[in-house]
Amino acid sequence: MERELIIVVDFGGQYNQLIARRVRDLNVYCEVVPFDKALERAKKDKPKGIIFTGGPASVYAACAPSVEKEIFELGIPVLGICYGAQLMAHLLGGKVKSPDFKEYGKIEYDVKCGSKLFQGIEGKNICWMSHRDYISQLPAGFEITATTQMCPVAAMEMADKNIYGLQFHPEVTHTQRGNDILRNFLYGICKVKGDWTMGSYLAEQLPLIKKTAAGKKVLCGLSGGVDSSVAAVMVHRAIGDNLICVFVDHGLLRKNEGDEVEKFFKDAYKMNFIRVNAGPRFLKKLAGVSDPEQKRKIIGAEFIAVFDEEAQKLGQVDCLLQGTIYPDVIESGSGHSAVIKSHHNVGGLPKDIKFQLLEPLRLLFKDEVRRLGEELEIPRELVWRQPFPGPGLAVRCLGEITEDKLKIIRESDAILRQEIAKHKLEYTIWQYFTFLPNIRSVGVMGDERTYFHTVGIRAVTSSDAMTADWARIPYEILEKISSRIVSEVESVNRVIYDITSKPPATIEWE
Ligand code: XMP
Repeated sequence: MERELIIVVDFGGQYNQLIARRVRDLNVYCEVVPFDKALERAKKDKPKGIIFTGGPASVYAACAPSVEKEIFELGIPVLGICYGAQLMAHLLGGKVKSPDFKEYGKIEYDVKCGSKLFQGIEGKNICWMSHRDYISQLPAGFEITATTQMCPVAAMEMADKNIYGLQFHPEVTHTQRGNDILRNFLYGICKVKGDWTMGSYLAEQLPLIKKTAAGKKVLCGLSGGVDSSVAAVMVHRAIGDNLICVFVDHGLLRKNEGDEVEKFFKDAYKMNFIRVNAGPRFLKKLAGVSDPEQKRKIIGAEFIAVFDEEAQKLGQVDCLLQGTIYPDVIESGSGHSAVIKSHHNVGGLPKDIKFQLLEPLRLLFKDEVRRLGEELEIPRELVWRQPFPGPGLAVRCLGEITEDKLKIIRESDAILRQEIAKHKLEYTIWQYFTFLPNIRSVGVMGDERTYFHTVGIRAVTSSDAMTADWARIPYEILEKISSRIVSEVESVNRVIYDITSKPPATIEWE
């Protein structure tokens, strides 16, 4: 069955992935395509609609990204957003100007007439504006459908050709009814039916994986994180024991985490699962190292070395399963969508072996991976697991890493997680953990003076880890966590809570 497709033409705007996510959330499959490939893809794949994203350039700049005018003549509906709308105006004979004013932030927009794009959204609403240039003169055949106080063309259209432009950003949640505008474009104008669900994706991918990997040995580096777990369960469902999962326990995991991962994949799923307990080896390499980037490098290199050794023991491997997801694909600029491709020598596999790379999540955003995980009936606590950095507790243990310090982090973090779960906050906080800032301070316990460690708590809300705010955990819960940590964890006499947002801080301390 042919899947419906929308092409999101990338002009370099900051919200491009967000547009694609919104379209997918409306059950329509879309791909982000570089502007210079847009016409070719549109002709080849015949999408149901095309969306031009915003972008930082001015349409008159020498190297301004553009598309061939022919794209408007394919009979495919086009929606231009911000720069995309300005480019549309420019290419079709309108004018774009740089104004003296700057329109930025939440602005009231007023919808003028009964446009299909604004069906059910007539009148005044708030939109998110972030532009320098504006459309000062419409191209022939267009009409204005929305204005703001400053902007004469907040929206324009040539309805009989299905070409629509928006100066504001419907994809940003600050735009009221923005999702309805996108829904109107997709369902009312592009006439999609909405066939993109994780159920349909799974039904389509399983036979494909079965066919590609039939009779082959597939190796998976499993971390226990969401992406590699979902990828492994999916491929295991398709090829069973031909999938071999290697789990490198670097000794920098949270309390009981390694055992839980093993229990889940080995016992519950009965997977072909190899656990490598490499903790002592990693700690030896990390001895005396305080610099965060050096820690990361050592851990990365050692990880590959361990994985490589395990792979060598297995002999011939035909495929490597990776949990690559769509943002990685977009950011690497490779754009297109094949889930299976040929590779040589990805770190972690024996040299000089030609093998296939299996990337069944390559088309999916993170939230789709989680929904796919639910479709695969993977337990909620794994699918909705908070992010955990690859270098693990190493970047939460400031200064030199020692087993004693790791123990303090593990024990205090377990207490934090218990209390967060007890108060049902685990799905509202993006990430929460304890860290050891490498400070000792004076305290008093009983009649004794102590000189013990300080444990820090970091808990943030976020939607993508790019920005974050410190979580407003109620004081009573913080108090409980603090008193449990100082009384239950040895060598700790003080607990602090980090109340810095990102930026200027980061989520992790290293
Ligand atoms: P920061 O600390 O940069 O973190 O605000 C943003 C997100 O990335 C995670 N993080 C890492 N993940 N390897 C990873 O796989 C790393 O070296 C690393 N450093 C930070 C962090 O936990 C947060 O979710």
